[in-house]
Amino acid sequence: AQKIIIDTDPGQDDAVAILLALASPELQVLGIVAVAGNVPLALTEVNARKVVELSGRTDVPVFAGRDRPLSRELVTAEHVHGKTGLDGIELPAPTLPLQAQDGVDFIVETLRTHDAGTVTLVPIGPLTNIAEAFRRAPDIIERVQQIVLMGGAYFEVGNITPAAEFNIYVDPEAAAEVFAAGVPLVVMPLDVTHKALTDRAWVEAMRALPGRCGPAVAGWTDFFERFDTAKYGSLGAPLHDPCTIAWLLDPDLFQGRHINVEIEIEGRWTTGMTIADWWRVSGRTPNALFLKDVDRDALFDMIHDRIARLP
Ligand code: BDR
Ligand code: CA
Repeated sequence: AQKIIIDTDPGQDDAVAILLALASPELQVLGIVAVAGNVPLALTEVNARKVVELSGRTDVPVFAGRDRPLSRELVTAEHVHGKTGLDGIELPAPTLPLQAQDGVDFIVETLRTHDAGTVTLVPIGPLTNIAEAFRRAPDIIERVQQIVLMGGAYFEVGNITPAAEFNIYVDPEAAAEVFAAGVPLVVMPLDVTHKALTDRAWVEAMRALPGRCGPAVAGWTDFFERFDTAKYGSLGAPLHDPCTIAWLLDPDLFQGRHINVEIEIEGRWTTGMTIADWWRVSGRTPNALFLKDVDRDALFDMIHDRIARLP
């Protein structure tokens, strides 16, 4: 199985991504590391443990990483995800303990103890923990197989400012360091994830699944959809973060280009913008597979069928 570490700020769509990964035998989730993002770390680490417990996979350890961006104040998104970050259903307080080890140290240790090129990082929140791990232990950079992340936007521009996508905007310095690190990058921007919209029939099919995970996903996406309909006039909830896991399971669902992507860290209006050289006009070396399209129906079939396997 493909070994991965999920770095996350749950988040309803993060939660669906975690469930999708835990339902998939092709992936071995070595650990889940929480980061500050959608809500503060004290909530994201609890939410991550709630989701792992819901999945029944309490063999997967959960860690807490950094509680703030490298050099900025934390910006959160309760307006999207609710006060808890995981509004939509009530889950019991988790009994799964938080690991004592620092989440960034876990990333470093895992990359050092597994064979080089065998561990993939899947960041679906701000890139703070990944950048911090690379700062603490530059020797691990060349050991990372690839980074498959949700973040950025090109044609779809921004969702937190007119120019920037939330995950990159919250910690642009971290993003800039990760994008410059030389690790193979797969980037799932809003251009893809705003096409990954739930519809009524899918949500009701999830709600009708016999276990507890399907109805949980329906509750989360219903909450998320209420937000999004008001803001974007779109009919469904965007499942941003599950696209990263889906790419690992079936990259043929997605289309994009190998291009150069730089992160704006000092723009007057554009801080956190992903400067994606789609038309290859800069001459800069490509550093990312930047995706643009997804087979939406196949993606939702995959998520449904996988989550149906969970309790
Ligand atoms: C990203 O920001 C968060 O709100 C979501 O969980 C996703 O990772 C989308 O911009
Ligand atoms: Ca997220």
